[in-house]
Amino acid sequence: MAHTVKVNPRVLEMQYAVRGPIPQRAVELARQGRRTIPCNIGNPQALGQRPITFYRQVLSLLEDPATLVRGRGNAAHLEIADEVVEMAREMVEASLTGPGAYTDSAGFGFVREAVSGFIDRRDRVADRGGVASDPNAVMLTDGASGGAVYVLEALISGPRDGVLVPIPQYPLYSATIARCGGVMVGYYPDEVRGWALSRDTIEDPLRQAQSEGVTVKAIVVINPCNPTGAILDEASMREVVAVAREHGLAIIADEVYQENTYGRPWTSFARVLGGEDVPLFSLHSVSKGFYGECGHRGGYLEVRNPPFVEGTDASLLEILRKQASVNLCPNTMGQFLVHLMVSGPPPDTETAATFVRERRQVLDDLHTKATMIRGFFERMENVACYGETGAMYLFPRLGTLPPGSGDFEYCMALLEETGLVTVNGAGFGQAPGTHHLRLAFLPPFELIEEVMPRWVEFHRRYVSG
Ligand SMILES: Cc1ncc(COP(=O)(O)O)c(C=O)c1O
Repeated sequence: MAHTVKVNPRVLEMQYAVRGPIPQRAVELARQGRRTIPCNIGNPQALGQRPITFYRQVLSLLEDPATLVRGRGNAAHLEIADEVVEMAREMVEASLTGPGAYTDSAGFGFVREAVSGFIDRRDRVADRGGVASDPNAVMLTDGASGGAVYVLEALISGPRDGVLVPIPQYPLYSATIARCGGVMVGYYPDEVRGWALSRDTIEDPLRQAQSEGVTVKAIVVINPCNPTGAILDEASMREVVAVAREHGLAIIADEVYQENTYGRPWTSFARVLGGEDVPLFSLHSVSKGFYGECGHRGGYLEVRNPPFVEGTDASLLEILRKQASVNLCPNTMGQFLVHLMVSGPPPDTETAATFVRERRQVLDDLHTKATMIRGFFERMENVACYGETGAMYLFPRLGTLPPGSGDFEYCMALLEETGLVTVNGAGFGQAPGTHHLRLAFLPPFELIEEVMPRWVEFHRRYVSG
């Protein structure tokens, strides 16, 4: 007889559409020998994006200490430039224990210092009267996801604690809030204004939640945004800071797509916050940008103005470190990659020139792909894609669908017809009565050119019933 087990209802409640029924159906189709194109997830190397040579050269050296023995030229056969070998050697020395040992739970000290240096160079907050980044308030994590989970777990202290989350949102947030037993309070960026924010957009749902007895403790902002691709303007960011200050909220700034702005200006929340005393948790990752190293699971969490924990004289930072210590440490290759992400290659070298070329190629290709796909959307009746291009996603609105069909049915039918794996808008949340889907604009050019006309044709037939 099969055993049954009662499982944690909060775990049962969690939903993660990005790997939900549509991708599951895609796996089935692939098993039957059908070609599928996985645009359901921002996983660039799965769709053929080449890794940045410099990153991989350093990682390969780090894994094999024999290549790093000084003066023996052991890396010569690998055709890796001396400056790269030297950098790898310095990183191993700075780590003290190399890649095979547990590290400090918050990650290697030298990497945390490099992260703070990067943030200071990027934001110049200290030059404008604010405080410099503190390496002791930086935690390295297994991807940005790890940092987001630590913060939400620590902040949600009971079933009436709420967190403001943009709708649509990346389901890490809804799933983690569900698992922690808190309340997700949705706020709706204004789609037709390019997903901009106003004071009311945030305060209306906040007040509504408060009137229902929810204690709202934090606001999540994803910038550039997954799934909409929107890049927030500074006015919207200042509204977030003002609301957070007035209502005593912490800001959780998910900035993993900060390199994916394709020529448009982007500002960090740390910079907009300046010297203001609002708790800020900023996340970054090696998974996105032009790096695309999702599988290596590297990221960081930077904390500013950590509050004190009620009833103790401990800072919230100490609680976050305690959480990290239960996981022993973030993986070391991810930590080394974070170092490479924030430090870059040795300047004025052949390696640096190649790096710059590869970076430009990846970002230019992404932008071109997004523009091509948008062009095909224009040929689809009643499909509108608001906002500029950011992150790695397009989130077109589908207009009116035939009776009995929502965006889930549309995406399923699109998959069956073309092999394109997308995620329907409802998987991220969306304004009531609207239909969307999210597509990661990552497939190779040839595939886009081949599949998009078939989508246009599919759309024409689908909406005409
Ligand atoms: C907005 C956002 N935050 C966080 C993550 C998770 O990134 P990581 O791979 O660093 O855990 C993703 C992944 O797609 C994302 O889109």
